[in-house]
Amino acid sequence: MSVRIDWKESYRTGNAQMDAQHLQWFNQVNDFLKAPDRDSRSIAAKNLYHFTRLHFREEDQLMQLTLYPVAREHTRRHNDTLVHMRLLLEQIAHDTVDMEKWRAFLLDLFLHHITDADLKLAAFVTSQKKAAKSRVGEMDAPWWTALTKGYADTARDTSPGPL
Ligand SMILES: [Fe+2]
Ligand SMILES: [Fe+2]
Repeated sequence: MSVRIDWKESYRTGNAQMDAQHLQWFNQVNDFLKAPDRDSRSIAAKNLYHFTRLHFREEDQLMQLTLYPVAREHTRRHNDTLVHMRLLLEQIAHDTVDMEKWRAFLLDLFLHHITDADLKLAAFVTSQKKAAKSRVGEMDAPWWTALTKGYADTARDTSPGPL
């Protein structure tokens, strides 16, 4: 079985910012899975953890800005994932990591979180944008762009912190 995970078009949500981060996330997952030894695996896992945390924080902020109705459940799934990833870092530190198990865990994030929870969030954001444009009567309402662009800058972080 291949160690790395493969990219699928079904991972695309249609939200440009989310998709760009998911692609970067995907590459970091494979950097971790392909790491040849304990030291490089440890570095890759820490990079993956920190990028995952950043990505989740930005999605959480987007949900707050758009008053996403199921934000609490989505954020809970983010935080559960981060707790698991901290366990991964501990296992690497103690040299007890089961790579096959973690490959399955990370693949599941792409197969289920992105293609379910994130896809629904992206669709909601698109529908909110369309509704806002029709209300404002502009093709590209500048206030919406200002609202959703750079939302990470003001993100209030409630996720598990760095090690
Ligand atoms: Fe998400
Ligand atoms: Fe995501």
